[in-house]
Amino acid sequence: MKKIGTKRLETGRLILRRFTVLDAEDMYRNWASDPEVTRYLTWPCHASAEATAALLENWVEKYQDGGYFQWAIEFKEAGTVIGGISAVKLDESINAAEIGYCLGRAYWGRGIMPEALRAVMDYLFDEAEVNRITAYHDVNNPKSGRVMQKAGMQYEGTHRQAGKNNRGICDLVCYAALRSDFRTA
Ligand SMILES: CC(C)(COP(=O)(O)OP(=O)(O)OC[C@H]1O[C@@H](n2cnc3c(N)ncnc32)[C@H](O)[C@@H]1OP(=O)(O)O)[C@@H](O)C(=O)NCCC(=O)NCCS
Repeated sequence: MKKIGTKRLETGRLILRRFTVLDAEDMYRNWASDPEVTRYLTWPCHASAEATAALLENWVEKYQDGGYFQWAIEFKEAGTVIGGISAVKLDESINAAEIGYCLGRAYWGRGIMPEALRAVMDYLFDEAEVNRITAYHDVNNPKSGRVMQKAGMQYEGTHRQAGKNNRGICDLVCYAALRSDFRTA
């Protein structure tokens, strides 16, 4: 795996880029304050935009680490940050990354996250030379599974009572893709 960090990526409708502290208001308003967005996530809603800014200060510092992959999703049409996508875990021993993502509710149902996920997968496979990309979702949150399917990941199994999020302990559905699923050697 090449630790090349969070580089700017662009798709038809999206710019994926590093967060800055200036994104705090948009992030707070568009998704971090919404309990519908965080329902199946592991972190609680933010109490204020100041709390979001404090978190972003921490993230911005981490960009110095080439093993830190954390993108803001900017919707070109709206000119604003509407969500985030990141590698929540890396396992260098097997050259693997686990991806997590969330999107503001006003933007659901437009295929935005599959577009972002596919761009991140292309980057990790082609430029960071990652071999395996995984993602998990709560069994009660199948729309996240649809994102994984649409991005070309394969269902690998369901781990019983293997995760904990804001709703408590849950079964986790695992999807993954290998570099060889998309690229010839
Ligand atoms: C899961 C999530 C990322 C989906 O992103 P998205 O850009 O809306 O993805 P899509 O537009 O491809 O929609 C995926 C599925 O969500 C469902 N869906 C779409 N719009 C919806 C809406 N307004 N309300 C409820 N479900 C909806 C559909 O089943 C859709 O699948 P389909 O296209 O086969 O019909 C987004 O809903 C989200 O951020 N949710 C909260 C955070 C979260 O759960 N993150 C994942 C944790 S594992």
